[in-house]
Amino acid sequence: MHALAGAPRLGLVSRRSALGPHEQLYRRLLQPHLDEQSLHDAASYLDDNLRAVGGEPVDLPDTPAQLHEWMEDGARDVMRRYGEYMREREEGAPRRFFSNRAHALYFLRMVAPTKLVDGSWLWGLTAQADNPRLAPLVRTYLEELGDGDPSKNHVLLYRRLLEGLGLDQERAAPDAAWHQGAIQLALGCQAERYLPEVVGFNLGYEQLPLHLLITAYELDELGIDPYYFTLHVTVDNGASGHARQACDAVLGLLPRYGDADAFWNRVREGAKLGCVGMGTNEAIAGFDPRAEVVRILTDKAPLGAGAHASHCRLAGRSINDWLREPAGMDGFLRQLEQAPGWLRLGEPPVHSRFWQLLQGERAQMFGVFSAYELQVIHDWIRGSESHDGMPFTETAATNEGARRPRFRAMQARAARAKAVAAPLPGLELDPDLADFKRAWAGSSGASRHALMVSALGPASHWTPAGLYATRLFAARG
Ligand SMILES: [Fe+2]
Repeated sequence: MHALAGAPRLGLVSRRSALGPHEQLYRRLLQPHLDEQSLHDAASYLDDNLRAVGGEPVDLPDTPAQLHEWMEDGARDVMRRYGEYMREREEGAPRRFFSNRAHALYFLRMVAPTKLVDGSWLWGLTAQADNPRLAPLVRTYLEELGDGDPSKNHVLLYRRLLEGLGLDQERAAPDAAWHQGAIQLALGCQAERYLPEVVGFNLGYEQLPLHLLITAYELDELGIDPYYFTLHVTVDNGASGHARQACDAVLGLLPRYGDADAFWNRVREGAKLGCVGMGTNEAIAGFDPRAEVVRILTDKAPLGAGAHASHCRLAGRSINDWLREPAGMDGFLRQLEQAPGWLRLGEPPVHSRFWQLLQGERAQMFGVFSAYELQVIHDWIRGSESHDGMPFTETAATNEGARRPRFRAMQARAARAKAVAAPLPGLELDPDLADFKRAWAGSSGASRHALMVSALGPASHWTPAGLYATRLFAARG
């Protein structure tokens, strides 16, 4: 098994020894070179999942002739419901998705496995890019890749979002969070065998969903860059964007000599695959602040056992002893909640002795917890007060009553300084780029095409060599 070989670091860190089945396949399909066994397993995985969703309803019209009308009705309905949401918010309703900043970060972490393979379901079509009937889908794929512009490549944008929030080194999400990404990777490497399902998946997935609009709005409100999400609001538009390209692709690909009904039925089945695994709503609903604190302590316990002085005790046991049993962290936290002064829930975190150990001038455990973990602990201690979205780095006392600036407002203020201080990262220093350029210059015809298609794959399109290959591919005559 070579499942972990070459697995990218960002957002995909796993400290567990046994990976779940979805994560295993995901990692195997996110390799630059796929062996026969992996391709076979991808096909079996798709068959199993198609069987599993077979009895589910699908939100698609009965006939392809109604597709454009269906798309336009759907987009109108989403905008109407978003208008309702905005009215509610203006009248004082709380955020619908994210109770606090930790909740939003938790969500971004849970959907990371899917977002980091964004667009991958269409990769396989690039091998046949000269077929004019595939043109709308190849265009969609290249747009997912930003046409090789690093500031527009969707996967790179998400990686940078995680990095900017300190989420890149976080423990990987549970296995259900890898399910949807594994489906997308499997479709991407099995496009020839599952063309109708790929087309159908794309059709369902590229329609503008209400949750995308609300997510973008609420992230911005919490001071978190919403660009990855707002970008999708514009690219998924029904007038000229991916939603329309998806409809055009289905209509253009309906068989003229074969069985168009059978093809359409497979399109409908493929669309159902967009709903498998942990979706946006499940990722949001899965956040339980106290449970997440327990999970963090459980992960951290083995590192802390033995690191504490023997006089550090809680409820008659040494801290080292507590930490030797990671499964007992719920009880540990309960004891900490009951010990006077250690956790003053509902108050500013600086009132709690536990928080004073983690943050502040004389914090003895400074640096033990990551920025994400500190935000979770901070927001859990503050309870409903954390609805103001305050980052843990700001002291509660000095910000009471202050209105949090939106991300866009902060960005506007920082724009001038940013332009000078942060030049585009260099894209030349890379172990693959020179080799790719050499291989490209030394090849022609089918082998050059295969070289580009390989570099356009989900494992590499966001790297310097992949971005370079994307620009060449987009510019090909
Ligand atoms: Fe995308």
